[in-house]
Amino acid sequence: MSEPVIVRTQRDLRGGVWEWRGYGKTIAFVPTMGALHEGHLSLIKLAKKSADRVIASIFVNPTQFAPGEDFESYPRTEKSDVAKLASAGCDMVYIPRQGSMYNAHHATQIKVGGVAENLETDHRPTFFEGVALVVTKLLNRVAPDIAIFGEKDYQQLATIRRLVADLDMPIKIVGAPIARDDHGLALSSRNQYFDVNGLNKARALNKIMFDCAKQIRGGQDIAKATDKAKHELLTAGYSGIDYVTVACANSLELAHSGQVSKPSRLLIAAHCEGVRLIDNCAV
Ligand code: PAF
Repeated sequence: MSEPVIVRTQRDLRGGVWEWRGYGKTIAFVPTMGALHEGHLSLIKLAKKSADRVIASIFVNPTQFAPGEDFESYPRTEKSDVAKLASAGCDMVYIPRQGSMYNAHHATQIKVGGVAENLETDHRPTFFEGVALVVTKLLNRVAPDIAIFGEKDYQQLATIRRLVADLDMPIKIVGAPIARDDHGLALSSRNQYFDVNGLNKARALNKIMFDCAKQIRGGQDIAKATDKAKHELLTAGYSGIDYVTVACANSLELAHSGQVSKPSRLLIAAHCEGVRLIDNCAV
């Protein structure tokens, strides 16, 4: 296991990237906010299969957190993150300083329409503006051939695909399958906020979601199936539901009722023991 090179400045990042480019190496990039788990490492492993060199970034991006969200308390675990990245075979870790990402004069915003509307945006109105901004900056800085994002944040992945296409960035965006624990709970950095009781409640979500998707696939009315799933989540101890919704897998156009007629995705956001969970699956 070799240690990845750690770079904190654009100058060092570009120096490393140019050197690899000089040898004709291709580069895959995995942006993260740290607090890494097996889900992130599965992205690194996919990146290794997709290019000659792998760069990961660790940056807790303030612009994607709304006031009152967990920006301050978000787990910052740089040392163990770097060790995990080393074990997964990452070649370089870019850890920009806060001030270098957003200086005092920063005045540019990026707003993606279409796929970035509804769902998460109904509940976190500025989230995708923050994601679009930081991802654009990171992609410009790293200039990879490929960038890999998890399908757990399905709407984020669709938003980044749109952004990269619309802004003519010559980067292939790859979605990686959702990594789950032995009970099917989608891995998330925020799962570490749960105690044992919370974790057990949280694990009900994926079962309810897969059952709901199966019913819809079998011809059940979308509204009836999603209402049932909402009821089951509340019965399982969830305190609130932001959405249980079916959308077109590509355009994310919502399908409120009737039967599915094209490749679709069931997407859920719900609150359990003070933690907001999101998950999704194919219908
Ligand atoms: O999915 C995440 O971890 C973040 O939203 C990302 C893409 C690293 C941007 O900060």
